[in-house]
Amino acid sequence: MDVLVIGGGGREHALAWRLARDEGVRRVRIAPGNGGTDGVAERVVDLDVTDPLAVTRHATRERYDLVVVGPEGPLAAGVADELASARVPVFGPTRAAARLESSKAFAKRQMERAGIPTAPARAFTDPDAALAHLHELDEPPVVKADWLASGKGVVVPETLEDAEAAVRGLYAGVAPGATVVLERRLRGPEVSAFALVSDATVVPLAAACDYKRLRSGDDGPNTGGMGAYTPVPWFGTAELERAAAEIFEPIAWRMARDGMPYRGVLYAGLMVTADGPMVIEFNARFGDPEAQVILPMLDGELSAALLGVVTGDRSLMEGSVEPRSGAAVGVVLASEGYPDAPVTGRPLLGADPASAGEDGPTLVFHAGTRATRDGHETSGGRVLTVVGRGVDLAAARAAAYRRLSDVELEGAQVRDDIAAPRPGGGDTLQR
Ligand code: AMP
Ligand code: GLY
Repeated sequence: MDVLVIGGGGREHALAWRLARDEGVRRVRIAPGNGGTDGVAERVVDLDVTDPLAVTRHATRERYDLVVVGPEGPLAAGVADELASARVPVFGPTRAAARLESSKAFAKRQMERAGIPTAPARAFTDPDAALAHLHELDEPPVVKADWLASGKGVVVPETLEDAEAAVRGLYAGVAPGATVVLERRLRGPEVSAFALVSDATVVPLAAACDYKRLRSGDDGPNTGGMGAYTPVPWFGTAELERAAAEIFEPIAWRMARDGMPYRGVLYAGLMVTADGPMVIEFNARFGDPEAQVILPMLDGELSAALLGVVTGDRSLMEGSVEPRSGAAVGVVLASEGYPDAPVTGRPLLGADPASAGEDGPTLVFHAGTRATRDGHETSGGRVLTVVGRGVDLAAARAAAYRRLSDVELEGAQVRDDIAAPRPGGGDTLQR
């Protein structure tokens, strides 16, 4: 099989690495890739991956057997639609189906229609109406931008004043008429659950915990994600099956019934409340850095499972991959100044990227890096994810941090509490 991976982050390095390890995969290419992907895939440069026609022209010329779209940008731009209409096998939902991620208001409506547990919310296009609604609520709601805001569009205010400031702040940065959603605040631990979805067919894949705040102890601003681990001790196979029955299957069925069948990986951001798991958000893609820990924990043929999604073949979706025993912990190394104003162009040492031949206890997946004559330099906010694997989370965590201590980058930001046990809490983790 010849495969094209679209995207250039740590998730796509991990996808390309994992696909390159499949027996049935002859060649992997990646557009645009990053400074660490050369050892797993040949880079396609000069292709605008958010231009559906350009991507489709390239894909038909190269006759890929499978195109895997990593990030939400190309999906929201309709890259999967155009590829599918040219009969290129594409793993990733259409633009209409990807609205489960790109429009929070649409996602909320579909969840309500499908009877999926989620926090009650109201959408506003008028700042004054939104501000008035704030005063009718018992506690400050979560304030969400209804546009792709790269993880910066959600504010969880503690006070009414902060909620007002958040509403004003979001509207200040956007054209009039944009939608802001006010949602009841839920409480409980968060987990990212992933399922392969092809029309009404759902196969749960894995769950992972992601650390969104910049600094240890869940402090500092929200980021794209500073680390992740899998499996989740308190969200195992039984909980995933429950999520499949209560969340993934109803939404998949609803989308198919509405003429927007979902094909790809569906990521449910869940909060496990006293009343059971509730959906905070859907994403139309693998999580980043969740992908970096989930993909190295799948044995078998990933390309076959993804192709099963494209063709709607349940037995391929179910039978091609299986979880490895043990655990994986991923720790993100970010640039100084991330997330607001990352400093780039700094030399990066001791960060040899995972290559196709490598399957050891640690793996380094690059993101914001560029290859230089004698190594790598930084080119973005999240620079890389170091993944450790081991017999359990403690061993995987130790491996990841040991490997990370070899990486040198001036001003690097790293959390030291990814998958850390709670002080005195036995085997319960900090989250
Ligand atoms: P989102 O981009 O929707 O995933 O939101 C980012 C983060 O905000 C989530 O990971 C949660 O920690 C938090 N959040 C979002 N919605 C809620 C909610 N209804 N209740 C509590 N926290 C929330
Ligand atoms: N790690 C969160 C995300 O990918 O959205």
